[in-house]
Amino acid sequence: MTNPVSALIRRLRGQADGAAGSGTGTPEHHDKPIVFVKELSPRARRHLMRHFLALEEKDRLLRFGSKLSDEMVARYVEHIDFDRDTVFGVYDRRLRLLGVGHLAFAPKETTRISGATIKPVVAEFGVSVSAAARGLGVGTRLFMRAAMRCRNADVDTLYMHCLSSNKVMMHIAKKAGMEIHRDYGEADAYLKIKPANSATMFQEAMEEQVAMLDYIVKANFKALLKWGVRVTGIGAAKKDAGPPPPP
Ligand SMILES: CC(C)(COP(=O)(O)OP(=O)(O)OC[C@H]1O[C@@H](n2cnc3c(N)ncnc32)[C@H](O)[C@@H]1OP(=O)(O)O)[C@@H](O)C(=O)NCCC(=O)NCCS
Repeated sequence: MTNPVSALIRRLRGQADGAAGSGTGTPEHHDKPIVFVKELSPRARRHLMRHFLALEEKDRLLRFGSKLSDEMVARYVEHIDFDRDTVFGVYDRRLRLLGVGHLAFAPKETTRISGATIKPVVAEFGVSVSAAARGLGVGTRLFMRAAMRCRNADVDTLYMHCLSSNKVMMHIAKKAGMEIHRDYGEADAYLKIKPANSATMFQEAMEEQVAMLDYIVKANFKALLKWGVRVTGIGAAKKDAGPPPPP
């Protein structure tokens, strides 16, 4: 049976995407779980560290363009500028990050696509999803959320740099209508984003509220479980065992 809250969220997302045009051309699959994307604050650095350190070597290469050591990953996380950039995350029920999208804003002259826009700033997007949570739409949702943020921030060019052998990311990029330029096994993909309107503003505000609510419910549930374990002792040994549950 369909969860009524999920059905409502899907309907609202569908209406907003339809009325406003998400600018990504990536409709949500109804057979995949509903994914809530939350904007992260500096307080999430510990969660971010855990997420990135759990990525296998080959995934770090795909995500960062080079094989970063644990120390370099830690440095990257410590240096994320939450005032300038926006970081999005998808949490599981145990408040572990299943997916992270980093939207970095930079003056266009400092990027490889300075000719793609007349706006002073472009956005670069990097994304990763935990191995056990792939194929559920988390990466796509993070991408769509980043595109919406660009749209509402008056940034009309969303840029991604990835290996052209990265079939999954290429699929997401093409599905979103991104223009892809290939060069020596690497690919620069960028998406032109439509201007904002009241529907996109409303949709973003709604998405953030719902994601915040989802986070609070998960946090309270986790605290309740912890209390239950402390009081009864049941499940104490199983703490953090096994793959992450779905979002
Ligand atoms: C790329 C990545 C973020 C995708 O995350 P995800 O949550 O699995 O992505 P989604 O579930 O939203 O979408 C995956 C899509 O790829 C498709 N796909 C899966 N394997 C594929 C393949 N071998 N070739 C083409 N498409 C493929 C899926 O069918 C799905 O498409 P659909 O939504 O149209 O059905 C994840 O694989 C990852 O973290 N990879 C390592 C880091 C990385 O590559 N980052 C990107 C560079 S910045």
